[in-house]
Amino acid sequence: MRFFKAAILAGTVAVIAATSAFAADVKIGFVVKQPEEPWFQDEWKFAEVAAQEKGFTLVKIGAEDGEKVQSAIDNLGAQGAQGFIICTPDVKLGPGIVAKAEANQLKLMTVDDRLVGADGNPLEDVPHMGISATKIGEAVGQAISDEVKKRGWNPAEVGVIRVSYDQLPTAVDRVEGALSVLKANGFAAANIFDAPQAKTDTEAALNASTTVLNKNAGIKQWVAVGLNDEAVLGAVRATESVGIAAENVVGVGIGGADSAINEFKKPTATGFFGTVIISPKRHGYETALNMYEWIANGKEPEKLILTAGQLALRDDYQAVRKDLGIE
Ligand code: GLA
Repeated sequence: MRFFKAAILAGTVAVIAATSAFAADVKIGFVVKQPEEPWFQDEWKFAEVAAQEKGFTLVKIGAEDGEKVQSAIDNLGAQGAQGFIICTPDVKLGPGIVAKAEANQLKLMTVDDRLVGADGNPLEDVPHMGISATKIGEAVGQAISDEVKKRGWNPAEVGVIRVSYDQLPTAVDRVEGALSVLKANGFAAANIFDAPQAKTDTEAALNASTTVLNKNAGIKQWVAVGLNDEAVLGAVRATESVGIAAENVVGVGIGGADSAINEFKKPTATGFFGTVIISPKRHGYETALNMYEWIANGKEPEKLILTAGQLALRDDYQAVRKDLGIE
């Protein structure tokens, strides 16, 4: 009897040891297009929390172009990873990324930017977590409309900077969502100006927006929309550089990471009026966890998860962040 108990006990110990040894062998890549952007830093941070919890290894790689994506995937394959999550620098790399992942026997999930095929349609077989872009864009448009009304402006005379990055579907959905609400609230289609950015960062948005402002010097009041906080901050910086006062500018971004927070912390309000905070916790922690479950337990992730956002302004952003569990 005693012998049996000992044997069972030993068996249990062996099983536990085997499981944890397996967890330690799991290696998951997290590849992002713009590692310097606070949003992606936060995604990595929360993915790391999942890695600590489950005991797997997280390999963080920045890949700013197609070539770097290719070598990142090969590299993950060579170091024995079993899967990776990627926010690609270019959604058109889709079929190439899928092929590379297969060649390296890596499971693949995408985050933020959804891969498209040669026909421009999303690759629906690849599990994806993104934001509910149109809805979040609409929240941006509503926040701007409300503030413009509050300031007593005539929306028909207000200029709209549409910081655009039209090669990225989620970017189009976000700005179009915002513009649909602006138009419904009396903004004039003729006063909406495209500011195409070469890259999704503040500098590119600043350059593109400056051109728009210089060409339309007759317009006195401006609002700005874009795919993220960096885009809207670029537009706001452009208004400052051509001498438009903050009280004549209403920009609302999307993101809510440090780029926005640092702006809210400035002693006086700028034209960056608000942001729709999205959740790097869900995008980082959940995708990493889902990938782990897929590798360790064969549990395939849902094909499409869309996350929500919540508007935050200068005076309530701390409460909203707390609410979302990203303090
Ligand atoms: C895109 C943008 C990022 C961020 C994410 C959120 O990748 O470039 O700044 O907004 O979407 O999903």
